[in-house]
Amino acid sequence: MNNCYDFDNPPERRASHSMKWGRVAGRDVLPMWVADMDFAAPPPVLAALQESLAHGVMGYSMPWPSLLESIVEALARDHGWQIQPEWIVLIPGVVSGFNLACELAGEPGDAVVTLTPVYPPFLSAPGNSARELIRSDLQRQGERWVCDVDALQAQTPAHSRLLMLCNPHNPVGRSYSRAELQQFAAYAEKNDLLICSDEIHCGLVLDDSAPHIPLASLDADTAKRCITLMAPSKTWNIPGLSSAFAVISDARLRARFKRAAEGILPHTNLLGLVATEAAYRHGEDWRQALLDYLRGNAARVAAAVAEMPGVSSTPVEATYLAWLDCRELALEHPARFFEAQGVLMSDGRDFGAPGFLRLNFGCSRSLLDEALARMRQALAQRRA
Ligand SMILES: Cc1ncc(COP(=O)(O)O)c(C=O)c1O
Repeated sequence: MNNCYDFDNPPERRASHSMKWGRVAGRDVLPMWVADMDFAAPPPVLAALQESLAHGVMGYSMPWPSLLESIVEALARDHGWQIQPEWIVLIPGVVSGFNLACELAGEPGDAVVTLTPVYPPFLSAPGNSARELIRSDLQRQGERWVCDVDALQAQTPAHSRLLMLCNPHNPVGRSYSRAELQQFAAYAEKNDLLICSDEIHCGLVLDDSAPHIPLASLDADTAKRCITLMAPSKTWNIPGLSSAFAVISDARLRARFKRAAEGILPHTNLLGLVATEAAYRHGEDWRQALLDYLRGNAARVAAAVAEMPGVSSTPVEATYLAWLDCRELALEHPARFFEAQGVLMSDGRDFGAPGFLRLNFGCSRSLLDEALARMRQALAQRRA
């Protein structure tokens, strides 16, 4: 593995039109919120983009065979999942993909089930197509957040049509085991549900003992009901390039998905596709170095949180997001409290869990240490 990448000294982002840094412009507040990392994209990705720019023509593009092949090969190599190139539907974003999935799920008034807390657009997507949102809360069992499938079943009304899964799960950082995935698959079969599996964080598994397993790779019956959504965007830090894809093995379902997107989703853009191929073909060395760095950051977060009375977290199996339980602090608004002390995190309320915060540790160690120090100091001052 190449460990020459300088994650300790990422580019300055303050004047770079960054959403993450724009929210704190002109203030002494550290942005630990929205899920992008502060690191530059891998050198082979930047080189491919530069080559495209040097050509200079930014006309409409169409997917090319080696691009699709790079995705097919990466899914086989990284996740042992054999797919066909024609199963891939390129889309400009995963959020668009799960909104389309809701549109395909039965009729207006039917229900969509999801496990909470979860990435906020999961909570708004069903309503965007007049579907009812059914939430089932994950339970904290020791060091892990798990789904109580019996409770989930009891909460599932007869008019449910879609299960929206997030695996790895943002914000709780779980990478579901094969046994858990089999339970989800059995539940979907029992209730005859379509499944939309958002696997955007699949390249960011930190815990080697819990490798990512695509839900649709379990068996052919599960695959038939699955719309799997993936993207290189989180893993290689290119979310601003708007490149994602759905994998749908069932031809009828795929045709319905494409039809629903027709005229609504814009074309994927050339630069995003070029970056996608480069990331899947040449990004592994950088990804391994990144995972190493993120493991170090996750350990720092865990150590610091252990010294924050009233705050707790669980080990992050995947993602660069830590989910902090601040309920014992009995603060009316933990996000505002810490922001006032110079650390901006995502508010658990937006994920369906007031009293929690999500901390993005995809940043340099020095920035992370500063944020953690500010948090500890804020809590110490509060106690004093
Ligand atoms: C679980 C999950 N899905 C989707 C997205 C966003 O995907 P996109 O930018 O491709 O719409 C994010 C971004 O944080 C995410 O965490």
